[in-house]
Amino acid sequence: MQFGQVRRSKVHRATQVPVVVSVAYSYEDMDEWYDVAIGKKSGHIYGRNTNPTVQAFEDKVRALEGAEAATSFSTGMAAISNTLYTFLRPGDRIVSIKDTYGGTNKIFTEFLPAMNIQVALCTTGDHEAIEEEIKKGCKILYLETPTNPTVKITDIERMAKAGKGVGALVVVDNTFATPINQNPLMLGADLVIHSATKFLGGHADALGGVVCGNKELVEKIYHYREINGATLDPWAAYLLLRGMKTLKLRVEHQQQSAMEIAKHLQNKAGVEAVYYPGLETHVNHDIAKKQMRGFGGMLSFALKGGWKLSLSCFPN
Ligand SMILES: Cc1ncc(COP(=O)(O)O)c(C=O)c1O
Repeated sequence: MQFGQVRRSKVHRATQVPVVVSVAYSYEDMDEWYDVAIGKKSGHIYGRNTNPTVQAFEDKVRALEGAEAATSFSTGMAAISNTLYTFLRPGDRIVSIKDTYGGTNKIFTEFLPAMNIQVALCTTGDHEAIEEEIKKGCKILYLETPTNPTVKITDIERMAKAGKGVGALVVVDNTFATPINQNPLMLGADLVIHSATKFLGGHADALGGVVCGNKELVEKIYHYREINGATLDPWAAYLLLRGMKTLKLRVEHQQQSAMEIAKHLQNKAGVEAVYYPGLETHVNHDIAKKQMRGFGGMLSFALKGGWKLSLSCFPN
């Protein structure tokens, strides 16, 4: 079956998405198999390419991000690396920020330079500096907002405009915001990425990743993934789907708790600084307010004197 076709499969009138573990699919004859293989008829051919349970997961995230298409991966890092490797070629240039998730940063500092891809990492939150680097030209502008773990915010709309100005593909890691709080595609991004392992799944029992965007771009990424093989497992897809039933409830509760914890920590003697986009003291609170519907469930803080004081600074 070709990418992006039939999304729903009802088995024995089951109301819940069935876990289809079959790797192969049988057809009446070669003609029918061929029609499915070339996308003339809906169905599946081989589990590395497409799977009904996996597609149900992709469709759910696609709908939440308001995207035309989505394709999934075995992990969030697979979603990120497959997206980058689909589009980048030796001699290309990518602009990003210093505070992306550690794994993403490794790709920028270790793997892309080894492939003769130039990487410009700007100070996160310094919009002028990012714009300056974009103006020099780039194939991809890659953002993560809020960042893990520093919860720094970048203005997606402003940066997407700058990126489009030089014909760059604008990619946003939306893992920390979740689609409940932020939809980068609506703010001008071309592709939105999630580590589904985090908030989407929500139970720390399944790894997964997903990329959403227009059909043309996502189809290219899907093609890279189907050949490179970082396929999401149907069992993981099922767990992620089940977790997502409570996504809104969890995120709303978590961000309510995060705000309370952030305010509480602000008044603690041993705490040097609290980083939470919902706090008015956050350096980019205004941007967060503009582009997010809620401030997310993650916060971070710095201790006076550093890590060694961690126990003594929390007397009750
Ligand atoms: C913002 C962000 N993006 C991507 C990843 C990578 O996701 P995974 O662990 O599913 O590969 C993580 C993991 O912590 C993350 O926090």
